[in-house]
Amino acid sequence: MPKKKKIPDLHYLYEASVQGVGTDLDFAVRIYKKKNGGKPNDVREDFCGTAALACDWVKRSPQHRAWGVDFDRPTLDWGLAHNVSQLGPETGELNLLCADVLKVETPPVDLVMALNFSYCVFKTRDLLRTYFKQVRRALKKDGLFIIDIYGGTEAAGTKLEPRKVEAFTATDGTKVPAFKYIWDQAEYNVIDHHITNYIHFKLPGTGKIEKAFTYDWRLWTLPELQELLTEAGFKSAEIYLHDWTKEGESDDIYRRRTRYENALGWVAYVVGIK
Ligand SMILES: C[S@@+](CC[C@H](N)C(=O)[O-])C[C@H]1O[C@@H](n2cnc3c(N)ncnc32)[C@H](O)[C@@H]1O
Repeated sequence: MPKKKKIPDLHYLYEASVQGVGTDLDFAVRIYKKKNGGKPNDVREDFCGTAALACDWVKRSPQHRAWGVDFDRPTLDWGLAHNVSQLGPETGELNLLCADVLKVETPPVDLVMALNFSYCVFKTRDLLRTYFKQVRRALKKDGLFIIDIYGGTEAAGTKLEPRKVEAFTATDGTKVPAFKYIWDQAEYNVIDHHITNYIHFKLPGTGKIEKAFTYDWRLWTLPELQELLTEAGFKSAEIYLHDWTKEGESDDIYRRRTRYENALGWVAYVVGIK
């Protein structure tokens, strides 16, 4: 019987499938410069998981400082072993905190970023407003809070979306073969917008890894997020959305919008301005 291949650690597969930390940081720097004229220096990554974004930030300049916050010790440890350990000597200061984002205290920062919809774990207006207030307190006077959200006609329902991810070598030298990433919107409750999503993976020679990651969320809408940010004390909340290529894919260029025609699926950045 042929031997089953060893499955690469799921965090490598996760980072390659869903994260685009360079794009997120480029967006944040562009909007920060537009609003404040200067460059941000201090960034807090909430729900940081493996701290990929915080690591990328301190790699960009020895002056940069980053704080990563997550309450899951094993995930933080994986980030320390595989991402933080790869940082060279010419990097800025990185602090990883094993803490609840609702309670954590950090020095004032220019940017707080909470991406890949992680704040959707907060399912009531009260809890989400409390979190947004905490973030506002953590920002410097001109600070920005950047989150993202997905929507569109296909967001309000179930769907299974496979995508191929090319083979790559991780920063720690681990070789990961090409694999399939499957986004599974398994449940959507029209009444309260509570959803259950899964990420599955399929690798050559190892079969399908079912429910590698599970998300039990409330899918918030753009007007709800804008209202809650201003209720939490933010001066305003702006929405940035992409356009489309001829092939109907996102063009990945995010512009400020006050009107937008609905589509099958879109991803927006929401920027809270302190
Ligand atoms: C979807 S992952 C996000 C990983 C990565 N930052 C990204 O953008 O893809 C969500 C992370 O949030 C963490 N988390 C959930 N609730 C939290 C809370 N209240 N405080 C701190 N971390 C939390 C989980 O441990 C998990 O690592």
